[in-house]
Amino acid sequence: MKRVVVVHGPNLNLLGKREPHIYGTRSLDDLNQTVRDKAGRLGLDVSVFQSNHEGEIIDFLQKEAPGSAGIVINPGALSHYSLALYDCLQALALPVVEVHLSNPLAREDFRHADLVGGAARGVVSGFGWKGYVLALQAVADFLSDGEAAGSSGSDGRSAEHEQT
Ligand code: DQA
Repeated sequence: MKRVVVVHGPNLNLLGKREPHIYGTRSLDDLNQTVRDKAGRLGLDVSVFQSNHEGEIIDFLQKEAPGSAGIVINPGALSHYSLALYDCLQALALPVVEVHLSNPLAREDFRHADLVGGAARGVVSGFGWKGYVLALQAVADFLSDGEAAGSSGSDGRSAEHEQT
């Protein structure tokens, strides 16, 4: 069974309690159950991780992501400045879908930069927890379209340049 890696960055452990008017009232455990259910329906195995520490996220990705079909990641605030996480995702050369519960472009200016998103195949923002469902669907579509890692002729990231 193909596996997808799902990563939640800093402060996402506080979901449900943290600014619920922005991030919703569902807890991270609840969200992860939705992620597991959706992955199951897509026939995908899922490996879920949350950390408040940039280095732990990078260690996890380096260990767990190789061999997977792709990465769904909400890097939280790291999205806006982490060159180390950007480099990690580039090095892994897998299809990445970045997710934001809120729409950072509709918020403070300092959230408008998305450094990590530059390493992603696409970004889903502003749809709350449903963004994770959409992102998993995107990875499943990459797989069935032959765009995911291991598919011939693509490293997953550059697929858009290869479409006719
Ligand atoms: C977030 C948006 C980021 O700006 C913020 O720092 C987060 C959550 C989101 O899911 O909307 O921690 O990634």
